[in-house]
Amino acid sequence: MIKVLFVCLGNICRSPMAEAVFRHLVEKKGLSEQISVDSGGIGSWHIGEAPHTGTRKILDQQNITYTGMKARQVSEKDWHDFNYIIAMDDQNINDLQKINSKTEHVVVAKLMDFVTEPKELEVPDPYYTGNFDYTYELVSEGCTHLLSYIQKKHNIQKRRDINWVEKD
Ligand code: 4NP
Repeated sequence: MIKVLFVCLGNICRSPMAEAVFRHLVEKKGLSEQISVDSGGIGSWHIGEAPHTGTRKILDQQNITYTGMKARQVSEKDWHDFNYIIAMDDQNINDLQKINSKTEHVVVAKLMDFVTEPKELEVPDPYYTGNFDYTYELVSEGCTHLLSYIQKKHNIQKRRDINWVEKD
């Protein structure tokens, strides 16, 4: 199982958006048994909260579920539990390095690093910009590219059902 953790500052706007979008793509491709997804925040302010109303609104518009998602804080242990820790901006990367500087068994990178010719190098924070539509556009593009990268890197494809036919 390849495990992906999305990280932002508060875990109520960008990283839960990425978690929901990425899970949606993984499910659509029939890869849920091979790739799992979670999200966390650098800060502790919003622990236990559902995603921000702006994030919920855009996910509702896109018919993407976020049921049961609750904010949590990133911890040192996540470096052992995940294969990919995917941040939204440079400040997240700096903060993550302070929590755990190890990179042996985990890829720590920004979502936009996976996009060829990205419009932005960081995902702007809609908590401050108010522009959830633009954040969604970037997150969606980033998640599509990240999933292709992971599928190629780990040779992950939808498993075909095998129907065993008894010989008579
Ligand atoms: P996020 O946005 O990192 O995309 O979840 C933020 C949400 C809350 C705060 C900052 C950023 N805050 O300071 O409470």
